[in-house]
Amino acid sequence: MRLLHALSLASVATAFTHPGLLHTESDFTRIKSKLQANAEPWQTAWYKLTNSTFASPAYTARPQETVYRGKDGTHAENYSTLYKDIAAAYALALQWKITSNATYADAGVAILDSWADTLTGIAGNSDKFLAAGIYGYEFANAAELLRDYDGWDGEKVQAFADMMVRVFYPMNRDFFVRHNDAAVDHYWANWDLCNLASMLSIGVLADNETMFAEAVDYFKNGTGNGRIDRMVWKVYEVDGQVLGQGQEAGRDQGHSMLDFGLLGPIALSAFNQGEDLFAYADNRILAGAEYAAKYNLGHDVPYTTYQNSDVTQAEISTNARGDVRPIWELLYNHYGVLKGLNATWTKQYRDMVVEQGQGAEGGGGDYGSTSGGFDQLGHGTLMYSL
Ligand SMILES: *[C@@H]1O[C@H](CO)[C@@H](O)[C@H](O)[C@H]1NC(C)=O
Ligand SMILES: *[C@@H]1O[C@H](CO)[C@@H](O)[C@H](O)[C@H]1NC(C)=O
Ligand SMILES: *[C@@H]1O[C@H](CO)[C@@H](O)[C@H](O)[C@H]1NC(C)=O
Ligand SMILES: *[C@@H]1O[C@H](CO)[C@@H](O)[C@H](O)[C@H]1NC(C)=O
Ligand SMILES: *[C@@H]1O[C@H](CO)[C@@H](O)[C@H](O)[C@H]1NC(C)=O
Ligand SMILES: *[C@@H]1O[C@H](CO)[C@@H](O)[C@H](O)[C@H]1NC(C)=O
Repeated sequence: MRLLHALSLASVATAFTHPGLLHTESDFTRIKSKLQANAEPWQTAWYKLTNSTFASPAYTARPQETVYRGKDGTHAENYSTLYKDIAAAYALALQWKITSNATYADAGVAILDSWADTLTGIAGNSDKFLAAGIYGYEFANAAELLRDYDGWDGEKVQAFADMMVRVFYPMNRDFFVRHNDAAVDHYWANWDLCNLASMLSIGVLADNETMFAEAVDYFKNGTGNGRIDRMVWKVYEVDGQVLGQGQEAGRDQGHSMLDFGLLGPIALSAFNQGEDLFAYADNRILAGAEYAAKYNLGHDVPYTTYQNSDVTQAEISTNARGDVRPIWELLYNHYGVLKGLNATWTKQYRDMVVEQGQGAEGGGGDYGSTSGGFDQLGHGTLMYSL
């Protein structure tokens, strides 16, 4: 455990737990024992992972020198190669951690090494910052799981971490500082949140306390819409429960849900390093998740007109209401099971997504082949059920 706030930045010897982003060693101990006992829902969730086309050791990586996301008028977009390769590296890393079979680790490492050797930049239009954020935190997670594999040479591990620090991290930081030269409240919360997730995850992967602290500070006290009290900015008490209106509630529900798909990994990765962002500001993430889940389940929620430099939204958006993403097991298991808090709507949403997944939340490839299906790593039933 770490006492981050008591330390000055940069000056401390690293004290990170590894693996210590979305998953820790004790998670794998639990999952292995559940699978040995053929216990549900882990068994069904395991088959969902192992039957995925992204879980095959025969998967071939397609590393690019420059990843393009968003049309810049000259280059074709090619970012699907990155998000698919990450889904494969992650699925292979999980299988190695659970089975100890080196075939999976070798295949995962081959993907990571190929990108570390090839990738020099992320470009496109403003959407390049979404790529730097979403794929930054996902990629760091795959590497964090494999870093202790004795078949992954220490210098290669370092080369991968260096690539993340060189290519992804500067864009994450630049987005916090400049916000692509827009008004600080212009970009919707998910842009800040994905860059926050990436900075925090790269900090742990690269053992850099400064980056980790920068990300945690931004969550509490940043300038943009990702700061938690701007993201979940209006709280209500309804039926004895606190509900929190999200910054994108008046925009559409797909992005509203994406925000919680990012807040979950941010909070869990920090929690696994001893910093409890789930609890921060009276469980503000839970208040927001409950609001989003309740509305998307078809219930009414209170709404207050949202306004920033660009838009005024007088009503909650019905666009994409009922959006399905594999993001609920993480939130429900932490708040409802581990902390014993009232997570009624989060649980109902989890149940709905699990039912649609025939017994488990799926992962990359199970929610469409376009980017939205890869905005989260998924496999939550296997990884987060307690
Ligand atoms: C695929 O799933 C089925 C059950 O749905 C299971 O019997 C089979 O073993 C799985 N295949 C792999 C490779 O895990
Ligand atoms: C990646 O983008 C570049 C520039 O548009 C292009 O030359 C390359 O073929 C792309 N790669 C893929 C796999 O699309
Ligand atoms: C390891 O996994 C590979 C790929 O699924 C399989 O062919 C091989 O039999 C496994 N090895 C062991 C020792 O289980
Ligand atoms: C950690 O990251 C910060 C911010 O980029 C950098 O200034 C510092 O040199 C890094 N520390 C180490 C030990 O690499
Ligand atoms: C929040 O950030 C401002 C500058 O942006 C700084 O003056 C203030 O001390 C910070 N507060 C905390 C609690 O970190
Ligand atoms: C939990 O929240 C639900 C939904 O708002 C509410 O109906 C229920 O009474 C709450 N339970 C407790 C124990 O507060």
